[in-house]
Amino acid sequence: MKPGEASQTAEFNALFRAMESARHPRRKRLFEDPLAPYFLGARARKFLRLSRVPLLGHLVPYYIDRKWPGVRPSSLGRTCWIDEQLGDSLRNGAKQVVILGAGYDCRAYRIPGINQTRVFELDHPSTLAAKKDHLTRKLGKLPEHVTYVPIDFDLQDITTELKLAGFDQAALTFFIWEGVMHYLTAEAVDATLRAISALTIPGSRLVFTYVHRGLIDGTVHFGKLGDVPSTLQDVGETWKFGLYPEKLARYLAERGFSLVVDVNSLEYRAMYMGPSGRHMKGFEFYHAAVAEVRKGAA
Ligand SMILES: C[S@@+](CC[C@H](N)C(=O)[O-])C[C@H]1O[C@@H](n2cnc3c(N)ncnc32)[C@H](O)[C@@H]1O
Repeated sequence: MKPGEASQTAEFNALFRAMESARHPRRKRLFEDPLAPYFLGARARKFLRLSRVPLLGHLVPYYIDRKWPGVRPSSLGRTCWIDEQLGDSLRNGAKQVVILGAGYDCRAYRIPGINQTRVFELDHPSTLAAKKDHLTRKLGKLPEHVTYVPIDFDLQDITTELKLAGFDQAALTFFIWEGVMHYLTAEAVDATLRAISALTIPGSRLVFTYVHRGLIDGTVHFGKLGDVPSTLQDVGETWKFGLYPEKLARYLAERGFSLVVDVNSLEYRAMYMGPSGRHMKGFEFYHAAVAEVRKGAA
C-alpha cells in the first residue's frame, strides 16, 4: 500500500459490489450492498455512473473484464460464498465476527442478525480511518456492535490488539480474511493463523482467500492476467504470498486448524453465476477456503 493512503484494491472491490448492487433488472443481482457506493473516489464513481446508463451500462463490466480478466466476477462470487459461510456460522451460534483486512466490506452492516454479535473490523490505519470517515458521514454515527481495530499485520500481532479491543476468548467466533493474505509476508500469515487458533475456542471458523502459489513462484501458468500485475504495481499492492492447494490441509493442521472446504474461483463463480460463471476467463488461481480451529490447538 502507498504510505499514508487508504487501500485502492479495497476501493476496487467496493466498486464491483456497488455496480452489482445497481444492476438491472434487480432480480439478476447476486447481492445488494447499499453502502458500497459511499467508499468510492471520483474515478470509481464515474465507472459506477456509467454502469447505470440504460442499455450502454453493460459495456462497463465488459471493459473491466477485458482489461482485468476475472477480477470482478471472482470478487462477486467470493462475496456470495463468504456471505453464505457467515450466515451458516451465525445460525450455528457464532457470537463474534472478526474481519481481518476489512477494507470496505459492509457485512457488519448488511448481513441479517449480525448486529446481535460483536464485530471487530481490523485494517491498516489509513484504510480504516477512511472507512470510518465515510461511514460516519453516511450513517451519522458508527454502529455500536462494531469495534474498529487499526493494525499492520506485517508488524503487529493480532492477539494484543484484539484483546485490547475487548475480544472474548471464550466465544464462538467467525473470522473473515478476504483478499488480504496474498499482500502479506509468509511470516505475517503464519503468525496471524497461529494467533487465531490460540486465541479462540475449538469450533471457531476462519474463511479466507488465497492465491495458488504457482502464480507467485511462476511454476504454473494460469492464462491471461491482463493489466492485473501492472495495476497492482501502480497502486503499491503487489501479491507476495500464495499456497499450494494440495498442501493446504497440512499447512493449516500445523497451525491448529482442520480444513473444511477449499474452492477455486471457477467453482464459486459457477455456483452463483451458473453457466456464464463457468465460461468466464481469468483468476482461476484464486481460492476461498474455510478452516476450523481444532481441539487442543492452543
Ligand atoms: C483487496 S483489499 C480487501 C478488502 C476486503 N477484505 C474486501 O474483500 O473487499 C485488501 C485489504 O487488506 C488491507 N491490508 C493490506 N495489507 C495490510 C497490512 N499489512 N495490515 C493491515 N491491513 C492490510 C488493505 O488495507 C485492504 O483493506
